[in-house]
This record gives sequence, C-alpha cells and structure tokens, in this order.
Amino acid sequence: MTWMLTGGAGYIGAHIVAAFQRAGVPVVVLDDLSTGIRDNVPDEVPFVQASIADPAVVGAALRGHGVTGVLHLAAKKAVGESVARPLHYWDENVAGMRSLLQTCVDAGVDRVLFSSSAAVYGNPPVDRVTEDTATAPMSPYGETKLAGEWMLRDLAVAAPLRWAALRYFNVAGSGAPELGDRSVANLIPMTFEAITAGRNPQLFGDDYDTRDGSCVRDYIHVVDLAEAHVAAAQRLDAEDTGEIYNVGRGEGVTVKEVFDTVRGVTGQDFVYDVAARRPGDPAAYFADPAKIRSQLGWAARLHLADMVRTAWDSWQSRALGAS
Ligand code: WQD
Repeated sequence: MTWMLTGGAGYIGAHIVAAFQRAGVPVVVLDDLSTGIRDNVPDEVPFVQASIADPAVVGAALRGHGVTGVLHLAAKKAVGESVARPLHYWDENVAGMRSLLQTCVDAGVDRVLFSSSAAVYGNPPVDRVTEDTATAPMSPYGETKLAGEWMLRDLAVAAPLRWAALRYFNVAGSGAPELGDRSVANLIPMTFEAITAGRNPQLFGDDYDTRDGSCVRDYIHVVDLAEAHVAAAQRLDAEDTGEIYNVGRGEGVTVKEVFDTVRGVTGQDFVYDVAARRPGDPAAYFADPAKIRSQLGWAARLHLADMVRTAWDSWQSRALGAS
C-alpha cells in the first residue's frame, strides 16, 4: 500500500513522512515547494515537484509509483490571508482539491485521507468539541476545509472511495531540530520571535470568560498528529469507511499557561503586553478525542512542555544555523 502525500515537504508533512517510514508504510511526496522545503524530504523517499492541479503530472505519479492512497495536506493555511485573498484560497484549497480528486478517480485510487482543521467549527457554542458539534467556519480558510470534507462525502456516494478527514487542532513542536515550523504564524513561534528580539510577547485579550482571562486552545504535538495519520491510513487500507476525526489532546490550555511554559523551557522570565482581542478568536475550545481513540486506537502522548521544548530546540538550531 503506497501513499502519496501532497504537501509532504511542509512542516506537518515532513513529520507524517517520518511517521509512515517508522510504520514501514511506503510513501511518495508530491509538493510544489511554494512553501515546502525540498530538504525536508528524505533522500530515499520518491519526490515529485508539481501542483496538485496538474492532472498529467499527478496522474503519472499515481500510476508510476503504484499509489493506492492519497494523503492530502497541500493547502494554503493562513487564516488572515484567506480573509484578504478569498478567491486564492477557494482556488488553491477547493479547486485544487477537486482536480486532485478527479485525477485520483481517473487513476483508480480509491483512498483519500484529508487534512482538515478545527477551523471548521468557527466559534463553537461549547468548549469541548466533538465531531458532531455544529460547523460554522469564520474564515474563508475554514470554509475551504469544510468544503473539502463535503467533496469527499459527495464523491464517496458516486464512486468507490474510502476516506477520512482529520480536523487538526493547534499543532506545535517538532520531531527533530531541522523540522521545526518555520512560519511564524502561531502563538509559540510568535512568542519565541518576540523574546529573542527583546520584545514583550503580545496577549491578544485578557478579558475572556476563561480561568485566567486568556483564550483556551487544544495544543497537539506534531509528532502525535503525524501518528494519527498512520492510524487513519491503516484503517483505510483495512476497510471501507468515511469518517471525520478530531485530532487534539482533549485538554484546553490558556495563552498565559503557554507563556508560563515558554518561561520554564527558555529560562527567560519575560512579561507580556496585553493587546486588543484579535477579531474572530473564539474564547475557548478544545477537542473531544473520544472518537479517534475508540475507532483508531490513537491518543496523544506528548504534552505542552514537549511541544515548547522541541519547538525551542528547532528555533535555536535555526538561529545558530543562520549565524
Ligand atoms: C492561539 C491563541 C490567540 C499569538 C490557528 C488557525 C487554525 C489552525 C490553528 C490550521 C489565540 C493567541 C496568538 C500571539 C496571542 N490552523 N495569541 N498572542 O488562531 O487558535 O488557530 O492555528 O488549521 O485554523 O486559526 O492559533 O496560534 O494564532 O493563536 O495571544 O502573539 O493565542 O489570540 O487565542 P489559532 P494561534
């Protein structure tokens, strides 16, 4: 069973490739390197530089490598950018995925594992979110992820398709210093950037109705997230299914608690500046991971401290490399 990972040269993709290798599952990486890094792909893993929306190259790669399943990660994922450039996001994340799925059908590939997002929930009415919690995305990015799930559901009615969608919560950490998240677009790297530049990190609102006034999120280590993909792929290789799974630790952590963990890991006793709330930020939500645990036997093993420590190791190794 060979799996093609679209976007496998990215931060999350590289960790999934490593997890598939540990599990002995053959993989091929397809990535257009628009944000992915070629060196993230191990030498022994076949690599195809192409857009998912290029049927000729993608189809040739599926057939040429005997691909039986596609793990689709390649997407634009910056929430703010999606608001400024909605058509770009609908083109890349939805039109591109449509093209990829048609190419899969034409090549006889009947297994698709999709990288979705907790962003499909928007600002949920409950803190603990199950897969049955109403979806109400608040950004074009979240809407495109929900549209991707709908495409899979509809295709599975019309054609032979085994599929699963994994709704990622807040991904952090790294499995190796060289595989850290290079986009400074989320809380932990943004905090590192501030303290290493001698600035105070910003707290986007401290007046939320939460245990310490700061927002609550479910942080999940990228290595745990990668292992969830192995479990889901093995389920698709074993049986016909069409399921959506929350992938989180099942525990809510506040921004201030993240700051405390960063202080402990880095040894830097920084203070933060309270800034205005960020529009669109839900006050609090975290995953109920019961479904993935009971159906796929997966549960997160690593903790916030592991995420911050491995992310900090990557941050420092990159800084040393740059110096
Ligand atoms: C986390 C919390 C901020 C930076 C995003 C995407 C979501 C998914 C995960 C892809 C929030 C606060 C942040 C800072 C802060 N991505 N914060 N100061 O927004 O929960 O989710 O990443 O699927 O789609 O929306 O993550 O890391 O941006 O913010 O106070 O300097 O940290 O307000 O409460 P978010 P985030």
